[in-house]
Amino acid sequence: MNILVTGGAGYIGSHTCIALIEAGHSVVVIDNLRNSSKYSIESIKRITNQDISFCKIDVSDKSAVERIFEKNSFDGVIHLAGLKAVGDSVIKPLEYYENNLMSTLSILNACQKFNVNRFVFSSSATVYGENKSPFTETMVLMPTTNPYGETKVMCERILTDIAKTNQAFSVSILRYFNPIGAHESGLIGESPTGIPNNLMPYITQVAKGKHPFLNIFGNHYPTTDGTGERDYIHVMDLAEGHVAAMEQMTEGVHIYNLGTGRGTTVLELVKAFEQATGITIPFKISVQRQGDIASCYADVSKAQRQLQWSAKRDLIGMCRDAWRFEQNYQEV
Ligand code: NAD
Ligand code: UFG
Repeated sequence: MNILVTGGAGYIGSHTCIALIEAGHSVVVIDNLRNSSKYSIESIKRITNQDISFCKIDVSDKSAVERIFEKNSFDGVIHLAGLKAVGDSVIKPLEYYENNLMSTLSILNACQKFNVNRFVFSSSATVYGENKSPFTETMVLMPTTNPYGETKVMCERILTDIAKTNQAFSVSILRYFNPIGAHESGLIGESPTGIPNNLMPYITQVAKGKHPFLNIFGNHYPTTDGTGERDYIHVMDLAEGHVAAMEQMTEGVHIYNLGTGRGTTVLELVKAFEQATGITIPFKISVQRQGDIASCYADVSKAQRQLQWSAKRDLIGMCRDAWRFEQNYQEV
């Protein structure tokens, strides 16, 4: 299939391009490079030994998107482009609503106009809000604590409404849990600008000596050791989940959790990283981060059953690959 990947220069998008190419598909990437660089496109080419077509445009620019659809014949779209920093979205809600909603509407308009009927959307476990883990796809969604999460809920509703009126339109909504790690080549991975908000990039930067210690946000949660519990999934497993979703697409809207189904606490992840790398991570316990929930992990049985997909890589591998990338990575 010929697949358009929006946000394909980003962390999850670049790994997804590799998984698609390895599965025999061809890809065209649209990205405005707002949170990425052309380096990842070059790395995808190096890793796969294949040329890919890259267009530096903003997905919310409807006419620019339509021009890409005029020039290409797509079998499907994977829409990952979006802004994703939870804290930032609280400070700049308008920017988040505008970017994430306008880009989704723009790409959907083009799909409708050019009759492209396979659509995969990047959603997030954050839509479950304060439901109790394990999260299942049928749960009633709770309000999220931030505008970023609200944009995901809204996009899910838009997609569901479109599929109701257009029977030919098939949608897979993928609710990601916590992707970490990097491609085993060490050439692409997560490279946040500034101080990382997320746990794994912070740990790798402590290991590299960029920060003296890790702040653990609270140790009084109702979890095995009191620290927050998440479902960490290797980004390549997540990427392969997109391939499965695209290949197994059936009519209507289908929602899938992409996680491992296992909860890991902050302290357990720190220990796994130390075991994988031999590097000690100094830490201090600090106050809970506003908006954090105690526990977030997936029920993954639907994806296993319907997509014949499950995460294969373990926590030690995730840590080893994240560290390999951090060691190679030079800020651009
Ligand atoms: P990322 O920031 O690395 O990648 C997103 C890419 O989209 C970037 O390359 C950015 O430049 C591009 N982009 C943003 N707005 C754009 C626009 N209007 N036009 C064109 N390009 C645009 O983030 P990621 O971690 O790869 O996340 C990809 C998707 O997955 C996002 O939609 C995010 O909300 C979702 N998601 C991520 C996580 C996570 O933990 N990383 C968890 C759940 C969901
Ligand atoms: N944490 C720390 N110290 C840090 C960073 C994080 O203790 O420096 C803790 C958090 O309190 C939490 C855990 O590590 O308990 C994971 O935090 P992350 O920031 O890595 O991930 P979140 O689960 O908060 O959020 C991420 C993405 C969201 C996405 C969600 C989906 O940032 O966009 O996963 O589950 F919606």
